[in-house]
Amino acid sequence: MKKIVIFASGSGSNAEKIILHFKNNYQGNVVAVFTNNLHAKVLEKASQLQVSTETFNKNELSEGTVLNKINKINPDLIVLAGFLLKFPEEIIKQYPDKIINIHPALLPKYGGKGMYGINVHKAVLENKEIETGITIHYVNKNYDEGEFIFQKSVSIINCKTPEEIAQKIHALEMEYFPKEIEKLLIPKI
Ligand code: GAR
Repeated sequence: MKKIVIFASGSGSNAEKIILHFKNNYQGNVVAVFTNNLHAKVLEKASQLQVSTETFNKNELSEGTVLNKINKINPDLIVLAGFLLKFPEEIIKQYPDKIINIHPALLPKYGGKGMYGINVHKAVLENKEIETGITIHYVNKNYDEGEFIFQKSVSIINCKTPEEIAQKIHALEMEYFPKEIEKLLIPKI
């Protein structure tokens, strides 16, 4: 069975959904959740679902401690699910085409540094967009610029607050992220 490692910094609703999806699926299994945030809700969620957790600080991420821990696991896929730090080039080099991220907008719009979570939705609303969506993409050394794997859009004509947009995005993430991860795990003939 393929090994999935998740990186998350916050509430972890995507992480939880992915863990649950692969509890009933033989293509893969979430073997660990890594977080830079000691208070992240994702820690509780992972523990409740019997998935092991690792916490680390920025230095441990940039100076190789995290890479060593990942190498011990040797995952088939690394999933960034609401992970808010820049992912180190050293790890990207060692896991080419094996690291993916979900972004809560239709990249290349609304990507880059500082564009995460509610900030994205505020910008989308300020620009009076009529639709937004999600982008699942490979991770390269520049924020939000790796090759796209999947996009899905949604109308936000009736949304009046960033929170309303967030709800629509959340629904798309819950529906599509686990399925798209599963597709990546299936060997290509
Ligand atoms: C998700 O909406 C994800 O797309 C976003 O953070 C949220 C995490 O929610 N990621 C980014 O903004 C990355 N730039 P969760 O912790 O409840 O899964």
